[in-house]
This record gives sequence, C-alpha cells and structure tokens, in this order.
Amino acid sequence: MKSIKKICCIGAGYVGGPTMAVIADKCSRINVNVVDINEERIAAWNCNNYEKLPVYEPGLKDILKRCRNRNLFFSNEIEKNIADSDMIFISVNTPTKTKGIGAGQASNLKWIEACARQIGKYAKGKTIVVEKSTLPVKTAKTIKSILQSFSKIDDENKIFHILSNPEFLAEGTAINDLEKPDRVLIGGEDQEAIDSLKEIYLNWINEEKILTTDLWSSELSKLIANAFLAQRVSSINSISALCESTQANINEVAKAIGMDTRIGKYFLKSGPGFGGSCFKKDILNLIYICNHYGLDQVATYWENVITINNWQQQRITQIIVNKMFGNVDGKKISILGFAFKANTNDTRESPAIKICNDLIEEGCFLSIYDPEVDIKQITLDLDQKPVNDKLILQNSSCWEYASTIQDSALNSDAIVILSDWDNFYDLDFENLINIMRKPSWIFDTRNVVDISKAIKYGFNVWSLGNGNIN
Ligand code: NAD
Ligand code: UDX
Repeated sequence: MKSIKKICCIGAGYVGGPTMAVIADKCSRINVNVVDINEERIAAWNCNNYEKLPVYEPGLKDILKRCRNRNLFFSNEIEKNIADSDMIFISVNTPTKTKGIGAGQASNLKWIEACARQIGKYAKGKTIVVEKSTLPVKTAKTIKSILQSFSKIDDENKIFHILSNPEFLAEGTAINDLEKPDRVLIGGEDQEAIDSLKEIYLNWINEEKILTTDLWSSELSKLIANAFLAQRVSSINSISALCESTQANINEVAKAIGMDTRIGKYFLKSGPGFGGSCFKKDILNLIYICNHYGLDQVATYWENVITINNWQQQRITQIIVNKMFGNVDGKKISILGFAFKANTNDTRESPAIKICNDLIEEGCFLSIYDPEVDIKQITLDLDQKPVNDKLILQNSSCWEYASTIQDSALNSDAIVILSDWDNFYDLDFENLINIMRKPSWIFDTRNVVDISKAIKYGFNVWSLGNGNIN
C-alpha cells in the first residue's frame, strides 16, 4: 500500500477548504495543497485577517492558525501541485445545468471534466484520484476514460486509481462533522488505493466508521442521503401548514413523532424551506437519473419534495402580506437572517432570496441584517443595488443593508426572522417595540421567538406551524 505524503485538492470552496484544513490538522506529516482557478478566493484563504476568509465556519480559523503554511497551502499553482501529488481530491462545483440537454435537472460536469483532463496531463507515475464533489452515479467511469486516454497516449507509466469519497459535512457545523463524522464512505475498485485513503482517515476516525464499497454505491449514496434529508424537511414543512389550520403546534408534533426511535428526532425542524447549494441540486439530479432509466414514478415521487419546498417559501410571503392588511406597499420590513441557515455566510438557494424578492415585488422596503453575509453578496442575490440612506422614506420596492438588528428594525412595521442565528433567540422586545411602527409584527419562520414574552411587550406574532396563535 502506498503511504500518502502529498495531497492536492482541486477546488478551494466550502468543501475543499474546510475538508483539507481538517486533514492537514490531523495528519501533520502530509503536505496538503489546495488549488483553485479563482485568484481572489485563494488570496482570501491566504489573508492574514481571519475575518476575511472566504468561508465562515465555526472552528475553521483556529485550524488555519495552526496549519496554514505549515502543512496546508492555498495557491493557484494547479499544474505543479497535480504533478507533485500522490493523491488528488476533486472538490469543484457541480451545479445544475442551465441550458441544453437536461437543463434544470442534470449536473453540469464541465468543471469535473476539466479537472480530469488537467490531472491526466500533469500527473506523474501512480496517482489516486478521489471524487469529493457530489456526482451523478457512474461519473467515475467518465473520469476513468479521460485519464486512461492520457496514460495510453502520453506516458504508459501514468497509472490512475479512482475512488469515490463523498463529503457529508453540513455548513455551519462542518468542522465538527469532519472531525467526528457519522461515517466516512470510500468506494473503489483497487484495494490498495482504498487502503491508502483509509489510512489517512484512520489518523482520527475509528475503523468501524469507515465504510468501503463499490464505486457506484458510493456515488449514489451521497445523492440519496441528501434526498432523504431534504424529504424530511419537506415532510415536516408540509405538516407545519396543517398545524396552522388545526390549532396544533408543529414543535409538539415534531417532538412526539421524533421520540419514536424508528423516526428519530433529527431534521424535523420546520422552517421557510430548505436552501443551500446541495439539496435542490442533488434531488434534481436524482430526478434526471431516474427519468434517464425510465423510472418515471420514482422521479415524480422525488419531484414532490421540491414542490413542497417551493410552496413553503411562497406561502410565507402570502401570509406576511395577508396579516399586514393585504398590503405591504410603502411599508418597511426588517429581515433578520439572509444566509440559508445559521452559522454560515453561504446564501446559495437561501429561502431569503425568494422571500425578499417577493416582498420587494409587493412594494415594500426591506432592511436586511445578517451577522455574516455581506452587502455585496445580497446585492448579487437580489440583483438590485441597495438604496442610499437619504432616499429611504420616499422609496418602495427596494432594500438597504443593516449592520445591526436595531438599525434594521428602526421604523419598521414588521420583523421577519428567516434564519436561526443565536442572537435571534434573545431579541430585546422592550427596545424593539419602542422603535418600530404600530401595529408591530414579528413573523417567525424558525420558531426562535419566545411568543408569550413578545406578545406581552405588545407585538403581534405569527409563528410557523403554530395553530394556537396564527
Ligand atoms: P464551491 O463553489 O464553494 O467551490 C468550488 C471551487 O472549485 C470554486 O472555488 C471554483 O473556482 C473551483 N474550481 C472549479 N473548477 C476548477 C478547476 N478546473 N480547477 C481549479 N478550481 C476549480 O463549491 P462547494 O460548495 O465547495 O462544493 C463542491 C462540491 O462538493 C460540489 O459537488 C457539492 O455538491 C459538493 N458538496 C458540497 C457541500 C456543501 O455543503 N457546500 C457538502 C457536501 C458536498
Ligand atoms: C446538507 C447535508 O446536511 C449535508 O450532509 C451535505 O453534505 C450537504 O447538504 P447543508 O445544506 O450544509 O448540508 O445544511 P443542512 O443542515 O442540511 O440544511 C439544509 C437546509 O435545510 C437549510 O436551509 C436548513 O435550514 C434546512 N433545515 C434543516 C430545516 O429547515 N429543518 C431541519 O430540521 C434541518
């Protein structure tokens, strides 16, 4: 078995960065080089100001302080690092295709292919190639044929082994998930290559948590894990609406069903719909694969997980407008939370994007606060620049960036809570009720508010899935 001394990871994103940081931290004898085509991103990873790292993830900065420039390096030197490494992780983006065959469902694998070609061209000797990105089942076959074409033509000494090692981390808890994973999955054909990767993980993970399998089961398991998780969120969200109509309470229902060990208590929190770069993309990909194999009923089954998710996002805007006398035109609404969940600066597929755009379309003025998402990102997501302060009162259908909860709530008619950051659990109602317009509303899509306390201070409260008060 080949002991790995040098790793290259192509893709310095939300997966490549934290994953390689943890490997470098746990394996001080391995040199880990994270490379990317994006120069700005690499510069941000190398920045001395840890507040400016491209990924906000609790615990990440401490690891970087220990490992960066010790055995963890970020650079744009892709070719050199490919050539020098024994093991190469591919951790690039695999978004949904936006045009051509399979548009709106299939994954766009152009970045994966580009990596395979670069590896084929620059790698030397025996190289283990690890799929870290989430990929449609059978992608390893494509990578293999690209790589083999290089060993045949270029250099017969180039030998490639392909492994599938999907990443199960969730953003916001990535470091903990990487340090203490429920399992590590390695799919492959060559036992020695599997053992080489396993040896790395054995530095901090117990052997019984390392699962080895064939390539196709590993690739498919990643898509299915995300589909099952998203399905639970859509299931509980569908029931949140039923609770609102029946005076039941979604938290009580979730607790009662979750105590059944067959159901389990995790992933039963109702909210404004799932966001993030993975769930929707991976289910769409699953649907595409099912249709490809003629499994139309299976495809339709999974489509409904997305249908409920879209509906949940839409219905929240409708509720806000209805409760505010059917009109939000000219009103100011404070949005708390723009990231797709707490403890991340990632806004990809965040329900906040759809909800904010819908509210702006209704004519209101939004004041958006998020502890980690910056103004540039919100401007990109809403495809609209924020307004200049002086114009605020005359404007409708626009938004501003707020640096504090207080600034966001000032003179607003309503607060809408869209993600569950810690500081939203403990809002200063006494202060907020005094600086807001009356009647003052709180719309809580994450069940973070102490309802009776908020009502005591004079707020009207709508809380997702709570049939007692809505
Ligand atoms: P990301 O967009 O944050 O990062 C991908 C990076 O790859 C970008 O910085 C991009 O510039 C770089 N890149 C693309 N092509 C390249 C090339 N040819 N050479 C060098 N660099 C290149 O994406 P991400 O969120 O890190 O996701 C990466 C993969 O991991 C995806 O397949 C995703 O589905 C999967 N995944 C993501 C998560 C998550 O929570 N974000 C979790 C598990 C799995
Ligand atoms: C997910 C998977 O959890 C992870 O294993 C995979 O590797 C990548 O995709 P991520 O998208 O980062 O991770 O976050 P996750 O915690 O799964 O949340 C996804 C979305 O579902 C968020 O918008 C979150 O708010 C929502 N969610 C999650 C709920 O609304 N309720 C829940 O109970 C759990």
